Amino acid sequence: MTRKRVVAGNWKLNLGPEEGIGLVQELLPLLTDEAKCDVVICPPYLTLSDAGKALQGSQIELGAQNVHWAESGAFTGEVGPSMLLTIGCRWVILGHSERRQLFGETDEGVNQRLSASLAAGLKPIVCIGETLEERDAGRVEDVVLGQLDRSLAGLTSQQATATTVAYEPVWAIGTGRTATPEQAEEVHAMIRNRLTATFGEDTAHQMRVQYGGSVKPDNAAELFGQENIDGGLIGGASLDAESFAAIVHAR
Ligand code: PGA
Repeated sequence: MTRKRVVAGNWKLNLGPEEGIGLVQELLPLLTDEAKCDVVICPPYLTLSDAGKALQGSQIELGAQNVHWAESGAFTGEVGPSMLLTIGCRWVILGHSERRQLFGETDEGVNQRLSASLAAGLKPIVCIGETLEERDAGRVEDVVLGQLDRSLAGLTSQQATATTVAYEPVWAIGTGRTATPEQAEEVHAMIRNRLTATFGEDTAHQMRVQYGGSVKPDNAAELFGQENIDGGLIGGASLDAESFAAIVHAR
């Protein structure tokens, strides 16, 4: 069995509703038959609804960049899992390094968001990855597997299968400095081994582990060609329709 690739575009804090619809309209003719790959775009909350309407009838799915663990209540500024589903949003990114570094999110919080997302039926993408200092100190395994264990704690095998992991070395995000395919594969294999130890071989074999960090049309094929890399989480290059489509089509 080969795992179906998943390529997701993380628009971050870019593109309001009108601009977002514009990008979707550029993407639609470029991504007409993606049966071999799940394609997801993750606009900011404000743009989700309009982007979702523009995507209707296409094979591109909609994702959010975060979600709160509670469905409703006194949580100023937050959005709950079922709210996302009501506007056709099926995916959600959790624990992105920008959330962790700039907004104080922890593995425990990511785990709560993950449980709530799975309970609601969202398809989560859980991000993990080391900083440059941690890599230079020889702590990649310790950091990445620690984040993985704590973020995915308590999942059943079925829940794990529904979860995508994104390995994103922090030093490669938005820097133009991507991990080499060998560097990335080394960590992906480590992640797969840990998933096997935690959830068993069948589940680990089905789980998709994306790479993220300066993925571009010219390096995507080589990265995605690695045994344990099942697609990518794309930041900057997802804001340009042709670049994103070229990454989706990378073979
Ligand atoms: P980048 O971002 O592709 O711009 O490096 C990746 C990400 O943050 O998910």
